[in-house]
Parts: sequence; structure tokens; C-alpha cells
Amino acid sequence: MKKPDPAKTQIDLNGKVVLLTGGAGILGTRFAWSLAEKGARVVMVDRDIDKARTLAAEINQDVPDSIVPLGADITSPKDWADIKQTVETDLGEVDILINNAATKSPNFFEPFKTFSLEDWNLVMNVNTTGVMLGCQTIGSAMAERGRGSIINTLSIYGIVAPDQRVYEGSEYEGRAINTPAVYSTSKAAVWGLTRYLAAYWGDKGVRVNAITPGGVYSGQNKTFTDRYSARVPLGRMADGDELCGAMLFLASDTSSYITGQNIVVDGGLTVW
Ligand SMILES: NC(=O)c1ccc[n+]([C@@H]2O[C@H](COP(=O)([O-])OP(=O)(O)OC[C@H]3O[C@@H](n4cnc5c(N)ncnc54)[C@H](O)[C@@H]3O)[C@@H](O)[C@H]2O)c1
Repeated sequence: MKKPDPAKTQIDLNGKVVLLTGGAGILGTRFAWSLAEKGARVVMVDRDIDKARTLAAEINQDVPDSIVPLGADITSPKDWADIKQTVETDLGEVDILINNAATKSPNFFEPFKTFSLEDWNLVMNVNTTGVMLGCQTIGSAMAERGRGSIINTLSIYGIVAPDQRVYEGSEYEGRAINTPAVYSTSKAAVWGLTRYLAAYWGDKGVRVNAITPGGVYSGQNKTFTDRYSARVPLGRMADGDELCGAMLFLASDTSSYITGQNIVVDGGLTVW
């Protein structure tokens, strides 16, 4: 009898090159560190290069030479071409692309009726077009080589509508919050892109999947955490580290027969 292939049963990213966008953010930092611990070399792409450098230095102290910070704007095709060239020259070809960056616009919490087109376009440009550009630049090279794994970060609000009652009295960093329509729209669009490219590149050995985080606790006020948690079967918000398992699974060969899928890590919020 043949022993189970350890490449299919154990997450091992030794020697893999990962390109992670939004690497300096709340989840990006957790993703970068957990990937480093599994042996990957991670290019932490973020438009906030100072923050990326600081965080990379901290992770590199724990896992030497694992993180390379890189300043870039994912909405720029030129920046994507530069990212590709820099990474290929310094580290080699990208094995895993994680499209994780997302943004808020200056008037992100404006009601739908008065939400400006300028803000709409800005958010769509980062959350949706930026992901497309990453797939086009890095994914196409993966398809030419015949292997690769792409993970797009979605949101529960690309799958279900936000319950507006949750936002009454809710605050984050001292201001009232909600989830605008543009956020749901931008994430739902990336789910469409994920399935499209999974089919498009299936015969090229490139897997394209998504991960859908539920609300991650990062200092929201008690009104929000209580109201949000009441909607979650597991009764609480997520800890950022709880997203890492699904991401590592989709990144590695333990998910080698999975493409076009979405792992929803939401404590059950979308089941009812
Ligand atoms: N935190 C949550 O509760 C939550 C819930 C559901 C989904 N998500 C999704 O998970 C992902 C990560 O979320 P997060 O909470 O870590 O966000 P975050 O705001 O903490 O981090 C996003 C990072 O992306 C970077 N970024 C923004 N625009 C960029 C651009 N044009 N080019 C390069 N970098 C850019 C920012 O500088 C920031 O470091 C996002 O896609 C988000 O929509 C988060």
C-alpha cells in the first residue's frame, strides 16, 4: 500500500515565492507571518511602504530573510510590471499570488443616496481592478509556466447583504461605520473574476480560489462587536489568525484538486 503523499497532506511552502498585496494591513500581516513560518519567501506589496518595511523587519527577526517589503500601487499597470520584474530578478517566479489589498475612500461611509462617483470609482479601482491587474500580470505568467495558485480575498458582504441594524451606534477609530454598496459590489465582482479565471486557466495548472473573511476584531466599539456577534452562530468576531489556516491550505498543494472555490471563514454568519 502506498503511503499518503506528504505534499498533499502537510502544508509545506519551503522555497515558494508568494506575492501578497496589502501585506501591511490587519490580515496581510498575519498572512505574511504564517506563510513565512511555513517556509515561503513573501513579497509584501503595499502602497504604505514605511509600514511594510517596519512590519517586514519585525517578522524577519523571527523568521530570517522571509519577507521582502515592496512599495507599489496595485491600480497601476506599470507598478505591476515593475513588481513582476523586481520579484523575478530578486527571488524568482511567483508561485502563489494573494490579492488581499482593499481600500476605503475619503467619503466611504456616506449614505448610498449621496455616495459620490469619485469614491465609487476609487474603491472599485483598488478592490476589483487592482485584483484583475494582479491576475493579468502574475497569473498569466503562471499560466505560461503551467503552475500557480491564486487566492483572492473577498468579504461576507460580497455574498450576503449587510444587516443595516448592526451599524446603529457602531464606531471604529472614533467614527461611525457601515458597509457601503461599493464594498459589496467590488467583492462580488472579484468572486466572478475568481470563477472565470479558475475555468480559464484550469488546463494551464493555475488554481484560482477565494477566501471570505467575516468581521475581524480590530478595535471596533462594543456596540458594534455586540450587535455583529449576535448575528454569528459562533457568537463572536474573528481573530486575524483564524483566517490563516484556510489561506495556507489554498496556497499549498494540500488543495491541489481545488479550484474556483470560496472558503468562507465567518463563524457561520452566512448560514442563515
Ligand atoms: N478586516 C476585516 O474585518 C475583513 C473582513 C472581510 C474581508 N476583509 C478583506 O480582507 C482584506 C484585508 O483586510 P484588512 O482588514 O487587513 O485591510 P487593511 O485596510 O488593514 O489592509 C489593506 C492594506 O492594503 C493596502 N492598500 C490599499 N490600497 C492599496 C493600493 N492601491 N496598492 C497597494 N496597497 C494598497 C493598505 O495600505 C493596507 O495596508 C481586504 O481585501 C478586505 O476587504 C477584511
